[in-house]
Amino acid sequence: MAGKRTFTMIKPDAVQSGHTGAILAMINKAGFRIVAMKMTQLTKQKAGEFYAVHSARPFYGELVDFMSSGPVVAAILEKDNAVEDFRKLIGATDPAKAEPGTIRALYARNVGENAVHGSDSDENAADEAVFHFPRTEMF
Ligand code: RTP
Ligand code: MG
Repeated sequence: MAGKRTFTMIKPDAVQSGHTGAILAMINKAGFRIVAMKMTQLTKQKAGEFYAVHSARPFYGELVDFMSSGPVVAAILEKDNAVEDFRKLIGATDPAKAEPGTIRALYARNVGENAVHGSDSDENAADEAVFHFPRTEMF
């Protein structure tokens, strides 16, 4: 059965460009409830751990540098079918291939600086949520 929660980060490019409010409005309008949220800056170490699955990829160093380059807004979101529906809302990794109207089509700069993260499975969503938030900060 599909889970009810996903994890997201508004990435440093979108925070720096002032798109945080518009992106949160799209998330609310799409029917997600905010379970937890904070603005924070990842250390290189934490960014590296978060994207450890990509450590063998050629873009890993760039990805870690980018994700630790400025503040992010991290959040846990709740909705039926959360993981799949949120991936639809954000659009493809490369904004040039993202459906019109998706968050990445509207706000991403390129395939690396792509405005927002969304968990890709229920299991990863749960792991990513506890990586960023203690239980006492989930509401
Ligand atoms: P995310 O995990 O951030 O939600 O992104 P995603 O699932 O759509 O894409 P994924 O394959 O997991 O890649 C993670 C992030 O790495 C950067 N990337 N750069 N230069 C490149 O070719 C490249 N490919 C991926 C992006 O920031 C991507 O979101
Ligand atoms: Mg991913």
